Amino acid sequence: TYVIAEPCVDVKDRACVDECPVDCIYEGARCLYIHPDECVDCGACEPVCPVEAIYYEDDVPDQWKAYTPANAEFFDDLGSPGGAQKLGVIDGDHPLVAALPPAGE
Ligand code: F3S
Ligand code: F3S
Repeated sequence: TYVIAEPCVDVKDRACVDECPVDCIYEGARCLYIHPDECVDCGACEPVCPVEAIYYEDDVPDQWKAYTPANAEFFDDLGSPGGAQKLGVIDGDHPLVAALPPAGE
């Protein structure tokens, strides 16, 4: 799967969403998350992110390794919705993201 890491937090450019053929990039309050079971590893999202937040799971930089399980755990309560668009913005974030200070501080 691909993973969205910390550079997305409070940026949420959403260019990646438009590229994904299976609509598996879900929007939380401060960050977006890729559903690990729904992502088909097409890789279309990775180059379009202006802040380079997206990585193939094997290539996530060391300081953001926790984002691989965080992307997966974001769906613990949601299951596999089978499409992000119908959910819209999900109210909340993984605790890892929620604990970050607001951007710019
Ligand atoms: Fe975030 Fe980059 Fe997508 S900032 S919303 S991962 S294009
Ligand atoms: Fe979609 Fe990116 Fe996976 S475009 S299918 S989330 S590699």
